[in-house]
Amino acid sequence: MFWAVIFFLQRSTSLQLLAGSAAEPAGVGGVTFLAQLNNTSTGHLQGDRCAGRYVYMYDLPPRFNADLVRDCRNLSAFPDVCRHVTNDGFGPSITGGGEGGSLPEKGAYNTNQFMLALIFHARMKRHECLTSDPAAAAAVYVPFYAGLDVVRHQDQEIPANLSAREALPRGLVEWLLRRPEWRAMGGRDHFLVTGRGSWDFLRALGAAGKGNSLLSYPAIRNATVLTTEASPYHGHDFAVPFPSHFHASSDADVSGWQDRMRRAERKWLWGFAGASRPSSKRTVRSQIMEECGRSSRCAMVGSSTTAAAAFTAGPGRTMQLLESAAFCVQPRGDGYKRKSTFDSILAGCIPVFFHPISAYIQYIWHLPRDYRTYSVFIHHGDVVGKNASIEEALARIPPAKVARMREEVIRLIPTVMYRDPAAAKGVTFKDAFDVAVDAVIHRVAKRRRAAAEGRVDYQDSVDGGKSWKYDLLQDGEKNIGPHEFDPYVYT
Ligand SMILES: *[C@@H]1O[C@H](CO)[C@@H](O)[C@H](O)[C@H]1NC(C)=O
Ligand SMILES: *[C@@H]1O[C@H](CO)[C@@H](O)[C@H](O)[C@H]1NC(C)=O
Ligand SMILES: *[C@@H]1O[C@H](CO)[C@@H](O)[C@H](O)[C@H]1NC(C)=O
Ligand SMILES: *[C@@H]1O[C@H](CO)[C@@H](O)[C@H](O)[C@H]1NC(C)=O
Ligand SMILES: *[C@@H]1O[C@H](CO)[C@@H](O)[C@H](O)[C@H]1NC(C)=O
Ligand SMILES: *[C@@H]1O[C@H](CO)[C@@H](O)[C@H](O)[C@H]1NC(C)=O
Repeated sequence: MFWAVIFFLQRSTSLQLLAGSAAEPAGVGGVTFLAQLNNTSTGHLQGDRCAGRYVYMYDLPPRFNADLVRDCRNLSAFPDVCRHVTNDGFGPSITGGGEGGSLPEKGAYNTNQFMLALIFHARMKRHECLTSDPAAAAAVYVPFYAGLDVVRHQDQEIPANLSAREALPRGLVEWLLRRPEWRAMGGRDHFLVTGRGSWDFLRALGAAGKGNSLLSYPAIRNATVLTTEASPYHGHDFAVPFPSHFHASSDADVSGWQDRMRRAERKWLWGFAGASRPSSKRTVRSQIMEECGRSSRCAMVGSSTTAAAAFTAGPGRTMQLLESAAFCVQPRGDGYKRKSTFDSILAGCIPVFFHPISAYIQYIWHLPRDYRTYSVFIHHGDVVGKNASIEEALARIPPAKVARMREEVIRLIPTVMYRDPAAAKGVTFKDAFDVAVDAVIHRVAKRRRAAAEGRVDYQDSVDGGKSWKYDLLQDGEKNIGPHEFDPYVYT
């Protein structure tokens, strides 16, 4: 049941981490580090909101992005992709009431979970801190729609035509290596957004297996890769929230939604939005469906016929279920994470996890380190091995604590949503995009500072920071050592 992750635990490595300073040095391309630091510091004094936060975006040849969207019909493994790519990746808009359930009239979309690369790109095009001057940039964004590329080859048997499958990843690496912007820092200030989990891009170079090798190229190993499910032992990929169904346009949209979620009547103690997996027998998922099915305090959406209250799927109905439950259980999906985690946070429903990999060591940029503040953790072994009751565990939590956790979940809503890129100026809330870009810039700045001071940052050290434990360190913390998740994530 446990997930084998191979790396050191034997030694506790001492790290040189600097506390974050106000002025993040910026710049690429042959400009001295100190002069740029000076420039960005001055920017702060002059009130430039983007000082130290400028992003340079490549204008990639269309085969890396626009052509994939244009040829959406060819992506055979993904028949609905032409619908999903509409509205810059938000998908078809839906209206409240009918298909949209309780979703608002404006800003609700039937968003596919794999469209994040498009959503990110559309947002970046209108980002207020975009610069056309690479020398003024704190980070460089590579708008490659890696997820659309990789699904084209998903149907292929193994061994399939590897050279066709690697054509775009290899082409991208070759293109990048010729750029002066890349050479400035060996790509260590570059970032990409895949729109799918890392596992689709981790095939060893030249080896057989599924997916492609995008994340295995030495060049891409220097960059920062944003995925919807990160691997805990590669060090250069970071998980960001899945896109949900509500994409707000203004601060008022967000606070209005938060108020509604505060007032929502939660008539179920717990709920589960997900289908059964016929292949799974004694798993958390099948236990959940069995226990929920015979409980009058639990509701399900999905294919179950035994549910006390079964909802039929669809974004609006799913959201309706999540809004009417106090707790929403999140067993693993295809990977350890589930898109439903973010639907449930958006609905103000407290997520219940069964494995730390599902969230706590994934979404480190977006979810609080102290997972007890916003979620419940029930060890999957207790449920599967010992037939422990999920409902009893949840019913034991005092109402005042439930209220505190729900308020924390509601506070997280803006930071896990992807707002409408066309939102008028004057939006002040930070959405999932803002949080991710800030984190990338912070990561690059640490590398830059280390280089300027003649040090090697842990990210570039011998083991490459290849442990989820590095990611959980706070600025200023130097040591990785025993961790409470050690029993769940093998070292
Ligand atoms: C920083 O800016 C100040 C004033 O603009 C200038 O005097 C100083 O030489 C600059 N330092 C560097 C390292 O560029
Ligand atoms: C400092 O900023 C100015 C304009 O903001 C820019 O023209 C100049 O190239 C920058 N200098 C450095 C050393 O980054
Ligand atoms: C998609 O199919 C069209 C026609 O069937 C073809 O011209 C085009 O090159 C294909 N695109 C890709 C990316 O395979
Ligand atoms: C494999 O793909 C490459 C690149 O698309 C192509 O040139 C080659 O003919 C393909 N080989 C086979 C056996 O289909
Ligand atoms: C990756 O970064 C290192 C510096 O840490 C550099 O020496 C190397 O050339 C870079 N790799 C590529 C492919 O640019
Ligand atoms: C688990 O517990 C429930 C409720 O006590 C019981 O109905 C069910 O048969 C048990 N399942 C197994 C596999 O022991």
